[in-house]
Amino acid sequence: MASVKFRYVSRFRGGLPPGAARFGGMPKFNFTGGHNDPHMIPVDALAAAASSVIKRHGSLLAIYNLGQGPLGYLGLREFLASKLTGTRGMSVTADDILITSGSLQGIDFVNEILLEPGDTILAEEFTYSSVLTRAKKRGISVVPVPVDGDGLRIDQLEAILSDLKAKGVKPKYLYTIPTIQNPTGSILPLERRLSLIQLAKTHEVPIFEDECYADIVWADDAPPALYAIDPTQVIHIGSLSKSLAPALRLGYLVAGWEVLSQIIALKTDGGTGAIDQMVAAEYFSTHFDTHIRKLKSGLLRKLETLVKAVDREFGTDAELTVPKGGIFAWLKFPEGVKVSSLTAPSAESGIAFNPGPEWACAAGSADNMLRLCFALTTEAEIEEGMRELARVCFETTGFPRRGDNRARIERKPDK
Ligand SMILES: Cc1ncc(COP(=O)(O)O)c(C=O)c1O
Repeated sequence: MASVKFRYVSRFRGGLPPGAARFGGMPKFNFTGGHNDPHMIPVDALAAAASSVIKRHGSLLAIYNLGQGPLGYLGLREFLASKLTGTRGMSVTADDILITSGSLQGIDFVNEILLEPGDTILAEEFTYSSVLTRAKKRGISVVPVPVDGDGLRIDQLEAILSDLKAKGVKPKYLYTIPTIQNPTGSILPLERRLSLIQLAKTHEVPIFEDECYADIVWADDAPPALYAIDPTQVIHIGSLSKSLAPALRLGYLVAGWEVLSQIIALKTDGGTGAIDQMVAAEYFSTHFDTHIRKLKSGLLRKLETLVKAVDREFGTDAELTVPKGGIFAWLKFPEGVKVSSLTAPSAESGIAFNPGPEWACAAGSADNMLRLCFALTTEAEIEEGMRELARVCFETTGFPRRGDNRARIERKPDK
């Protein structure tokens, strides 16, 4: 690879993060990130949708934002308004929705309008790592709220909010992923949603609701979005990354006009890719239900394979939280097994996973946990990957217990 040295590197501004490493290719057993299943990309139908919509509206590409204003392609916003009304109980129109370049851009916009260095936000104790890294970069304190199998512990949240109030701290927002929480895969029940909205009102804390995975719920039984319960207190974001394709970079943000108008003033990127929006809208306007049904059944099959593989390879030495939808499973090893010690030897064997500490608000609270994305790998790779991970884990930590070390480890607590 040619290596050209830029003469003016010394003029880079101060305070930059370390430069990125060159891309080294995808690992063989890639359980990281939020990738989707390549076999579930409706290639032919997307090609047909592209051809049809470009023939109809392609001349609009001559105009920034297709001449339809900064909120984005009207066809996509209309599809989303109808989806959010139908599946999330949100009473919204196309005018309440801003199309973003991935929902990450939505997160950046919300941070940009609300956060200043020294501010405090709240989040589920284990949460989306990119929200944590963004908060850190801005000098924001993140207060963890404990979760259980049903998501946010509202009883504990009440105590935390009262405590912050007593200290004179007014959190800028509570970031929550109520429907298929990342990484724990839970769904916040309706009673907790209602209590959360009430608590947020009492303590005057805006809610930042991330529903990135709400289209992929196995039982289709998620309660309405928090935004549906009280749009005056909630900023809502969602994504087409998980329901269709992450490389499209399409997300959306739903909020009242005071918020939208402020964000539009910051969206100076010339508009989110218009062909992406047109193709997604064209395809989803007629294929959404069938696509989601097929996607969910494929993901469920992979999840079942993962559950069996983890059980077979780790037995009682690992606890897998089975998600109610989405693409991730949260795996917990016995106390004392540090996943950070597994990263390098796993990588040598072609295995990549997301270490728990990167998904934890509080340092030390997820040292023995890791997150596995089961969407990208094939079922055979899931099986082989878990076999390899168990081998690496055993060679590095002595867990999972196997033949010769089983008795020794089982005796340990008596010492
Ligand atoms: C909870 C959550 N929010 C937001 C995103 C960002 O998704 P995108 O920018 O691809 O829409 C992700 C990606 O994995 C996520 O897990």
